[in-house]
Amino acid sequence: MSQQEKVENHYAGRSLVEAVLAAVDAAGLPKTGLKSTDLAPLDQFHARGLAATRDLAALAGIDASTRVLDVGSGIGGPARHLAESTGCHVVGVDLTAEYCRLATVLSQRTTVADKVSFQPANALDLPFKNGSFDVAWTQHVAMNIGDRPKLYGEMFRVLKSGGRIAFYDAVAIDGQTPTFPVPWARDASTSFLWTAEATRAVLEKTGFRIRAWRDVSEEGRQSFAARAGASGPPPLGLHLLMGPDFKTMAANFGRNVIEGRVGLLMAVGEKA
Ligand SMILES: C[S@@+](CC[C@H](N)C(=O)[O-])C[C@H]1O[C@@H](n2cnc3c(N)ncnc32)[C@H](O)[C@@H]1O
Repeated sequence: MSQQEKVENHYAGRSLVEAVLAAVDAAGLPKTGLKSTDLAPLDQFHARGLAATRDLAALAGIDASTRVLDVGSGIGGPARHLAESTGCHVVGVDLTAEYCRLATVLSQRTTVADKVSFQPANALDLPFKNGSFDVAWTQHVAMNIGDRPKLYGEMFRVLKSGGRIAFYDAVAIDGQTPTFPVPWARDASTSFLWTAEATRAVLEKTGFRIRAWRDVSEEGRQSFAARAGASGPPPLGLHLLMGPDFKTMAANFGRNVIEGRVGLLMAVGEKA
């Protein structure tokens, strides 16, 4: 199995659309007019959920005129939130074709279906012309990608001059090893954490000028600590995508951040 097949299989080794829509119905949500707060426990697939997406949006300076590419868009929660809160248009790409299908059908139940679209693609080979976007956005995807020069190079290429990369990712801490499984990988074979310093060096070498650089590990620690005592998953939760093992994956992610084995970084860089 190739590295990409392993990653796709990790996120969705089975069909998800029917089961997730059934869970959305069972939660009593209407079939139209859904807001990002309705789906947030399910569709914001990163530490600190919707709150982190709001923080990154503010840092990136997105407004109605911004054309955004979401690299590794998951089931579309961040893209829908950006469209809903600012009026911008977002194109999402994701390696996991089943996530793109689910992102599309969930969007049809919201108020922003005409502002978002999703298509399967590899972040390392983006199917867009040079200079197509104002913002290239990514959250909790780079940890599955070892070839960071290629990832950031592709994001740089598809940005207009003066465009911004905005990202939120887990980072390695020198001398520390994460406990597996975590939400992005069952073991070290598909986990590629870089330190914040190494990430900054490759971004600058790619040609980005760093405009904002925030270690948000403490916010992550507080969020994970607050959720540590929860008795079970919410009716709409990421276990619907990842299966029953998600409880252990999420608990390990929380412990890795709380105990300083993994950090969290949010940053914005500009294409000169
Ligand atoms: C933890 S989820 C994050 C999803 C979304 N960014 C969010 O925050 O809700 C990681 C996503 O990265 C995608 N991914 C991993 N490697 C990728 C690659 N090389 N190209 C595109 N997507 C990738 C996975 O399919 C998965 O949907």
